[in-house]
Amino acid sequence: MSANFTALAYLVSAILFVLALRGLSSPDSSRRGNIMGMAGMAIAIIVTILRPDVLSYEWIIGGIVVGGAIGAVIAQRIAMTAMPQLVAAFHSLVGLAAVLVAAAAFYNPDAYGILGANGELTVLSRVEMSIGIVVGAITFSGSIIAFTKLQGLVSGNPVIFPGQHFVNLLIGLAIVALIIWFCLDLDPTIFWAMTILAFVIGFLIIIPIGGADMPVVVSMLNSYSGWAAAGIGFTLENTALIIVGALVGSSGAILSYIMCKAMNRSFFSVILGGFGGDTAAAGPDKGDRPYKAGSADDAAFIMKNAGKVIIVPGYGLAVAQAQHALREMVDALKEEGVEVVYAIHPVAGRMPGHMNVLLAEAQVPYDEVFELEEINSDFSGADVALVVGANDVTNPAARDDPSSPIYGMPILDVDKARTVLFVKRSMSSGYAGIDNDLFYKDNTMMLLADAKKMVEDIIKAL
Ligand code: TAP
Repeated sequence: MSANFTALAYLVSAILFVLALRGLSSPDSSRRGNIMGMAGMAIAIIVTILRPDVLSYEWIIGGIVVGGAIGAVIAQRIAMTAMPQLVAAFHSLVGLAAVLVAAAAFYNPDAYGILGANGELTVLSRVEMSIGIVVGAITFSGSIIAFTKLQGLVSGNPVIFPGQHFVNLLIGLAIVALIIWFCLDLDPTIFWAMTILAFVIGFLIIIPIGGADMPVVVSMLNSYSGWAAAGIGFTLENTALIIVGALVGSSGAILSYIMCKAMNRSFFSVILGGFGGDTAAAGPDKGDRPYKAGSADDAAFIMKNAGKVIIVPGYGLAVAQAQHALREMVDALKEEGVEVVYAIHPVAGRMPGHMNVLLAEAQVPYDEVFELEEINSDFSGADVALVVGANDVTNPAARDDPSSPIYGMPILDVDKARTVLFVKRSMSSGYAGIDNDLFYKDNTMMLLADAKKMVEDIIKAL
């Protein structure tokens, strides 16, 4: 296969990747986006393995079969709620791959065609290689910590010790010094010292970050994994890898920014850590404040007699897998002549687009689903706001209480509806670990049960 043909095929796959990102920006074009991404990746892989410098196929085919089989099984079995930790686990593999490829290129540069005229690695290759290794190693160890926190294998609480930022700074400076030294002297000891320190700093950067900020971290590590791939792409002189790495790197960075903005947190305050931990530990004393509890019959009666109902889905909907029942309930309400729409907060659930995916799974028409800015002013004209497994994204403290840790985060103004129905299992707090005053308001009725069970009971009552 000629070099020109390869370059052309890589260009086609790069265009497909850009179109994939474009498609993924809206729920109704996301399937198409996914297909474009898969086609682009298939072209890139096929063209790469058909290059004349690939001498044998046993290991490549073995890797594709084993890796593909593992990936297919995981994709079938994974629960939607476990997606953030799965993504973190996958990023760790991208980071490790970047380190391994760099190590292979370091020990056998000839095989990669990266030797200079003097028979040594060029300085440019050394710089690219070091950046690939360092970013890859940070991505690897950081993603492992993110995975263990999200999976609940270790506490989600921030781990903070005195002088932490100073230690991190020292290690960071040591890594920079080692990169410079490696460019001057190709000693394997320097290579491995740089790699080990990068593994350590990845670990240290992520441990102070609390569970509540973990999705932002996963997205940030996603970005790192892209830059690691781009760095290795330069070493291997592979344009497809450079382009894909840059796309992943920049889209991950933009996503982290969007998530921070939606939570009203600065990117640096996330990176510096210390916010949000295990919800049980973080919740303030709620005391015995009175609240109004209702039943499925009450909820059915109120909604049946309403003109307009706005449904706010949250993390609990995903846990309970109540999306199909919810759709059925909405169909029943529509038959009664009630207008029903859905309001989605940008950080509802545990990952970007979490609620959109759930509702799409239940075949909810896209034109019934509205983003925060589109629908927030409609709550004051709604008879009922039905909150299903959401909490923080409705908490008025974010709007009214400057001392609240979530103050400034935009919220869905459900409290402005005539009646607020809250479906959740208990009076406990949400992910940010803070109480929600809305539970105790006069126009709020708590429907305490598992979301799926409660929605099914409402359907029966309807
Ligand atoms: P949360 O505030 O976490 O509240 C979810 C509620 O669901 C909980 O209070 C819980 O109450 C209830 N619940 C859990 N399982 C349930 C079940 N089986 N049936 C019924 N209810 C159940 O969720 P939210 O309102 O969606 O807000 C998301 C939070 O995650 C925000 O704090 C946000 O900042 C954070 N976060 C999100 C993202 C993204 S990108 N989505 C990124 C970073 C951080 P009970 O235990 O009483 O049932």
